[in-house]
Amino acid sequence: MSNLRDILKNKKICKSIWFMRQAGRYLPEFRKIRSKNKNFINLCLNSELSSEITLQPITKFNLDSAIIFSDILIVPFALGQEVRFIAGKSPKLSNFVTRDFFNNNEKEFTRKLKPVYKAIKITRQKLDKNKSLISFIGAPWTLLTYMFNLNRQKIHQNLLELDKNKNLDHILEVLIKYLNLHIKNQVDAGADVVQIFDSWAGLIPLKKIEKFCFKPNGKIVEFCKKLDVPSICFPKGIKNNYKKFNKFVKSEGINIDSQIDPLWAKNNLKNVVIQGGLDPNVLLKSDKEITKSATKYIQSFKDIPYIFNLGHGLLPETDPVKVSNLINFYRNFNG
Ligand code: CP3
Repeated sequence: MSNLRDILKNKKICKSIWFMRQAGRYLPEFRKIRSKNKNFINLCLNSELSSEITLQPITKFNLDSAIIFSDILIVPFALGQEVRFIAGKSPKLSNFVTRDFFNNNEKEFTRKLKPVYKAIKITRQKLDKNKSLISFIGAPWTLLTYMFNLNRQKIHQNLLELDKNKNLDHILEVLIKYLNLHIKNQVDAGADVVQIFDSWAGLIPLKKIEKFCFKPNGKIVEFCKKLDVPSICFPKGIKNNYKKFNKFVKSEGINIDSQIDPLWAKNNLKNVVIQGGLDPNVLLKSDKEITKSATKYIQSFKDIPYIFNLGHGLLPETDPVKVSNLINFYRNFNG
């Protein structure tokens, strides 16, 4: 059993390190491939290149887990919305058309995403048996913010509009059906852990957090349990509601963001393996500051199962040397 899966399933105490966005823009190896592949979605759908990018940080740093190179927006893409990535801007999707959305079918969805599943298969064959291959999805709320092009500065107003959509409950239900299918296909192809990114959960007004965050994440986690694949949830930005989220959703793992105090997490998030927390901005500072911040997390979680990671993805301006130094520091840490 891979190291990460073992920690999540058996609550094993053992060192394990990987980074969100480890396969990405801070790596010159990635930028080289990206510069020759202008269309980001097409790059995600190139199985050979996707597998190569997935393995770049593993070859370079010998991290414990690989996360498949893809994007959360590949699901709205497969459901018929055009997705454009413009450098320095938030990704833009073509307008959501209710009738088109409901006209999707599972066979066609799987066919469109075959290259992602093939990339997982190729990568699993090349990856060391002890290392996990992590698959992922965006949680429904976070995907809805892109699918409906919600203005994040005016989220309350936008949410009122969205809530008036008489089809909303049905849209959520159908979206979850396809997300579950995407998870199943990834697991069938060889992924052994699932991470669920709810990157914009922090925008949901308190009154709606159960409807848009706890319940949808809960349904997907329940589905993962039926597949016998451990899941790690990342409801970023929900502050003290991490506690309620954890009691409600009951995923095997939970990624904390940088606003969460590690000792608070240790005392309040029970029966779950905690992952991450370190502010990715810290990696832009001196080695001394990096090791000081990392020590806080390592020390806080030293007697419980903990997966070392960040409070959000690695930033594009991160120096790979700093990443390497942090990995060595973590691996050699005693005490
Ligand atoms: O290394 C990995 O983590 C695996 C691949 C991965 C990408 N995106 C590749 C990517 C993963 C797990 C994601 C998740 C993702 N994508 C999230 C959730 C995590 C988070 O960061 O909050 C979200 C919200 C997205 C949507 C998305 N995709 C945005 C907002 C952007 C543009 C800016 C950005 O954050 O990078 C992308 C593009 C994207 N996805 C890039 C990469 C490597 C950069 C593409 C480029 O070269 O321009």
